[in-house]
Amino acid sequence: MNRGYFCSMLKHTLLKAAEAGAAELQRFFNGSFSISNKEGINNLVTEADHAAEKAIMGVIQADYPDHYILSEESGEHIQDSSYKWIIDPIDGTVNFANGIPICCVSIGVERAGKMLMGAVYNPIMNELFFAQKGFGATLNNKRIHVSDKTEVIKSCLVTGFPYTYLDEPNGPIQVFEKLIRKGVPVRRLGSAAIDLCWVAAGRFDGFYEHKLQAWDSAAGFLMVEEAGGKVTDFNGDYYSPYQPHLLATNGKIHDELLRIINGGLF
Ligand code: IPD
Ligand code: CA
Ligand code: CA
Repeated sequence: MNRGYFCSMLKHTLLKAAEAGAAELQRFFNGSFSISNKEGINNLVTEADHAAEKAIMGVIQADYPDHYILSEESGEHIQDSSYKWIIDPIDGTVNFANGIPICCVSIGVERAGKMLMGAVYNPIMNELFFAQKGFGATLNNKRIHVSDKTEVIKSCLVTGFPYTYLDEPNGPIQVFEKLIRKGVPVRRLGSAAIDLCWVAAGRFDGFYEHKLQAWDSAAGFLMVEEAGGKVTDFNGDYYSPYQPHLLATNGKIHDELLRIINGGLF
């Protein structure tokens, strides 16, 4: 099969899966659903997370039964395939459980260990982000681009905090405090996938987080790269979603923010 044709089939399945998951978010949002706890005090999982995951996986497995899947709630579905789907059925579960409309379905598709496509869908705000390696990033089918700010002091940033306190030098609180003391606005939306998409769309100039999982960032980091931004770990090296640290920026403030995150003076 021709590669272009295969990619358009893959994209079709990806968007269909994102829509199926998003329909579950809409069905439960602001309604009643059961909630239980994972490890950590406020690390929640709701009935809607499970329903969305089931709907998403149903679509993928119907079209590609031999592809590998990694999904937050059900874990690894190992297959001997070069394609791997990385799913967060609801990113922003605490928001979702509180009726805060900043939550989404996030799905990334890897081919031979490289992110090929991603979709992040927030049905409550009617925002569908999509990116394909080498083909740019879109929001509701319109091309998006990162911002052009050149200094951290004039930037609007976003970050997130892990469910369990990270007590380490240059940890999340220390970096946050340093930026806030200088008057830099640093938001905390509660959904890493949306944080990344909003950097891609130029709403934020940068996003950093100290402890992410592959499903939080798989689709979103490709969105930033394809919108012209830069994504690295905290050493400034190639970003892999299988390690915890992520810095995503418009590219222009990247080195300065990297230095600040690593304890440099600001
Ligand atoms: C969380 C969100 C949050 C981030 C956490 C993630 P969840 O994912 O992305 O913004 O700060 O690190 O675990 O639990 O809502 O899927
Ligand atoms: Ca998540
Ligand atoms: Ca989740």
